[in-house]
Amino acid sequence: MTQVFNGQPSSATDRSPRASSADAIVSLQGVTKTYENGSKALVNVSLDIKRGDFLFITGPSGSGKSTLLKLLYGEERASDGDVLVDGCNLSTLRGDRLSQLRRRIGIVFQDYKLIPRRTVLENVAFVLWAQGLPRKEIHRRLQPALKMVGLTHKANCFPEQLSGGEQQRVSIARAIVGTPPILLADEPTGNLDPDNSWQVIKILKKLNSVGITVIVTTHDESLIRLSNHPTVQLRNGYLYRPKL
Ligand SMILES: Nc1ncnc2c1ncn2[C@@H]1O[C@H](COP(=O)(O)OP(=O)(O)OP(=O)(O)O)[C@@H](O)[C@H]1O
Ligand SMILES: [Mg+2]
Repeated sequence: MTQVFNGQPSSATDRSPRASSADAIVSLQGVTKTYENGSKALVNVSLDIKRGDFLFITGPSGSGKSTLLKLLYGEERASDGDVLVDGCNLSTLRGDRLSQLRRRIGIVFQDYKLIPRRTVLENVAFVLWAQGLPRKEIHRRLQPALKMVGLTHKANCFPEQLSGGEQQRVSIARAIVGTPPILLADEPTGNLDPDNSWQVIKILKKLNSVGITVIVTTHDESLIRLSNHPTVQLRNGYLYRPKL
């Protein structure tokens, strides 16, 4: 069950990593993010997400959704507060240890970010090659990942030969081929029509059902209603749990 504090941790003890996050795989504790230009993207956000949860983060454009995800995979650092992911404190993690944590986080973006001149298979394999895994091991992992997203038959196609929905499914296969315990998806359906959007959400639900913790940002209220998963809302950098 996800715990949310509306921007105000209730006591000093809530800020202690061990107090509120004992069984959380992701924990933000009094997190504020102010960019260098003074833009306040997150204000005193506290949120615990348990292993195996599926959480939607919604909110208007500019409310801080992407910033929150960026803090979780270490692309940005909190200006204040603690960000804990899978036992690591992102506020202090650097170098090799940060790279190791990133391998345990799958990421899906709105614009897919596929390599244009590589086939589906190569796009999905790329991250494993970069990690130096043996060829045999890479092949052992590729087929289940492609099967999970229903694209085994498109393995030798190039991204431009695929629909938007198919490209997004390739990017999901790429995100999970390393079997990460956490999957972050930033507006994964932002460029897709309702049918393809729902297909993507169904794949994310399937991944969640096999134990992956899934955190998805979206503007799409209808997807949230259809999915029936917990939702938190960001507004001007403050976190709220909307009344159902
Ligand atoms: N690199 C940056 N430098 C300065 N300000 C930034 C930067 N990135 C984001 N911001 C600002 O931080 C705030 C939150 O941005 P963020 O991208 O997290 O919002 P979002 O909820 O993901 O929006 P959208 O729905 O449009 O993707 C905005 O005011 C934005 O202008
Ligand atoms: Mg965003």
